[in-house]
Amino acid sequence: MPINIFSSSDETIKALARFFIETAGKAIEERGVFNVSLSGGSSPKKLYELLAAEYGTAIDWSKVCFFFGDERYVPADHPDFNALMATKALFDPLKIDAAQVFAVDTTLDPDSAASAYMEAMAAHFKTTPIRLDLSLLGLGDDAHTASLFPHTPVLAEKQATVKSVFLTDKNVYRITMTAPLINQSRQVAFLTFGPSKAAAVNRVLKGEKNIENYPAQLIDPEDGLVSWFLDESAASQLA
Ligand code: 6PG
Repeated sequence: MPINIFSSSDETIKALARFFIETAGKAIEERGVFNVSLSGGSSPKKLYELLAAEYGTAIDWSKVCFFFGDERYVPADHPDFNALMATKALFDPLKIDAAQVFAVDTTLDPDSAASAYMEAMAAHFKTTPIRLDLSLLGLGDDAHTASLFPHTPVLAEKQATVKSVFLTDKNVYRITMTAPLINQSRQVAFLTFGPSKAAAVNRVLKGEKNIENYPAQLIDPEDGLVSWFLDESAASQLA
């Protein structure tokens, strides 16, 4: 499991952008398409902006299909909607066709939004298992990833699917790919930076196996590679 540590968040993001483009180029060459799942939150915004600003001609972006590892159950025009952040940072600047973007339909009820998303993925991939070429993931201070939060029922889900999950402490619903679905990815890349993540990074990578407390430990593709892109502060507790 490559753990790449960089001097700053900017250097970390630059390295992940290079990795993204390299992975995309290989997928397009081998299979004619690059199916990537984007992560939400604040960390990846600069990555998406960098890809749009510096790599607009590096690959054939018309061959890229975008999915989301998770989505907040809010209207599509809500500032917390992950697909809206990606649209502003990446899709609009690169003039990505709407047909290449698979966003969660939060006009449906949470369970229907999750099952509709899974149906859309299945229709796109046509064959099973659904194998994303790359799943980008972040890491929360509490060691969650996607919307796989500590002590939530979705952690026990054995199906490679998409589920809704109610977060009682935040009183919100989330829609998330399950760990088995993420684990079907050919590659997974965590982007994690900042001192607030140091304890979670150490627990996930070096701590006792405890997926209820550290859900990101669930990410372990059967036939895929997990890479970490960390800055020194997020890696500061790693021995
Ligand atoms: C989301 C993400 C989530 C995120 C972590 C880290 O929808 O919020 O998918 O898993 O990656 O919460 O978020 P930050 O990058 O904002 O620290």
